[in-house]
This record gives sequence, structure tokens and C-alpha cells, in this order.
Amino acid sequence: EFIKDVTGVKVLEQQLKDKLKLDHVVVVPGDSDQLDWVKHEMGRACVQYLKGHLAAGEAIAITGGTTMAAVAGAMTPLTGADRCLFVPARGGLGERVENQANTICAEMAKKARGEYRLLYVPDPLSEESYQTIIEEPSIKEVLDIIRNAEIVIHGVGDALTMAERRKTSAKQLEIIKERQAVGEAFGYYFNTKGEIVHKVRTVGLQLEDLKHARHVITVAGGHTKAQAIASYFQPGQSNVLITDEGAAQELIREH
Ligand code: G3H
Repeated sequence: EFIKDVTGVKVLEQQLKDKLKLDHVVVVPGDSDQLDWVKHEMGRACVQYLKGHLAAGEAIAITGGTTMAAVAGAMTPLTGADRCLFVPARGGLGERVENQANTICAEMAKKARGEYRLLYVPDPLSEESYQTIIEEPSIKEVLDIIRNAEIVIHGVGDALTMAERRKTSAKQLEIIKERQAVGEAFGYYFNTKGEIVHKVRTVGLQLEDLKHARHVITVAGGHTKAQAIASYFQPGQSNVLITDEGAAQELIREH
């Protein structure tokens, strides 16, 4: 069912690049919803892209999730770019430890032989605690690095899948459903028009910070994520997409 030859994948990459107006697209063969190793291939493609575009001393902000864990799994020493600093893009967002940005950030930095700084914040946060915490000097310092990172690498999730996985409160889940969110990235939930319909309160990168990054790399695949990917790319905040054939075919067909 899937394209076996390189030419087919190259055609998909060009189509997606034009459709989503991106600088670079990588489509790995297969569908990560069906085969786990496809996710690892996306991880490898991401590491390869990173190595070609990273300079010494730069900061890389990364999010959580199983796809980002695959990027960490594929990481190898960044020999051409020393003193690189890895930071988590946002707080835990309610994820379990292995899916949290902090965990993945530390693993990725070790494998890259880079430095890392972590965000120690309770999550989710009340408005009152949030205001106090962002004024803490140690948090402020890491936040400053995060919000000015040269490179951002992040996953995209299906809205309801993410809300459920993160044990979102009944009240927030209601809002997400009522406002017809389909996609999620960085704790922001988007509808099909790409409008933000909900945002998880946690410390870290804000959507507007993406404007300052030199490269924003989205890593997301699987045919079930096509609508989520399309919703995130409506306002077009990334310039690079690393995906798989399952999502790519669906994106070309339906969105
Ligand atoms: O924000 C999106 C999620 O972190 C994606 O999670 O890679 O496990 O599907 P996933």
C-alpha cells in the first residue's frame, strides 16, 4: 500500500512543501500509527536536519511526547556544534514523566554531548502561583533561554488524544470538545481554522516566541495526526516539517 521508491516520497515532500509553504519537508516511508520504527525514522531524520543547521553555542528548545522521545533516541554527539544548550520548551503539561520535555531534554543533551537546563515547576499551575513563579530568578533565567532559543523542535498531537493522555480536568476537556479543537502543540489547542481555542497554563515558550527562532522543526506523523498537523500549520509557525507517508498522503488528500 505504501510507496516503496524514493521518487514517490520526494513527490510527497515537494507537494507538502508547496501546500504548507515550508522551507523544508522530510517524509519518511510508512505510517507510524501502524509501525513503531517509522517514528524512529522520523527521529533520525530530525537529528540529521538538526546537525546540518545547528551552530556552536546555540540553544535548542524541545517539547515532550513519544515522537520527541524518538528524536532523543536517535540523537548522536553533535560534533560540529559544541556548547549547545538543550532546554524544555514548556512545563510538563500534565504528561507522565517519560513523556515530559524535561526528561527528554536531559536524555537528548547527554546523547548529543551538550549542556542542558531544566524547568522545575509544578504543573498545571494556578494563575496566582504562575505569576509568582515566573518572577523567581532561577526560573526567569531558564525562561529567558527558552524564549530566545535559536532552534525549536516540537511534536503535534490530536487534540482529544492529548487532552485525555494528560488527565485534563473535566471542565477543560469540555471546553476543548465544545470549541472543536483538533490539534495540539506546546499546550495550545487549535481548531480546523488554526485558531487557539484553549491553552494549558504552564511556564515556558509562548507561541509568539516562535517568530524569533531561526528554525522551528515540527516532528509529527501517523495518518491519525493529519488533521492536527493541518490545524497547527494554518497560521504557519514552523518552517520545517518532518513527517511520515501516512500523515503526508492524508494531508495532501484531505486538508
Ligand atoms: O504536543 C504534542 C504531543 O507531545 C505529541 O505527542 O508524539 O506522543 O504523539 P506524541
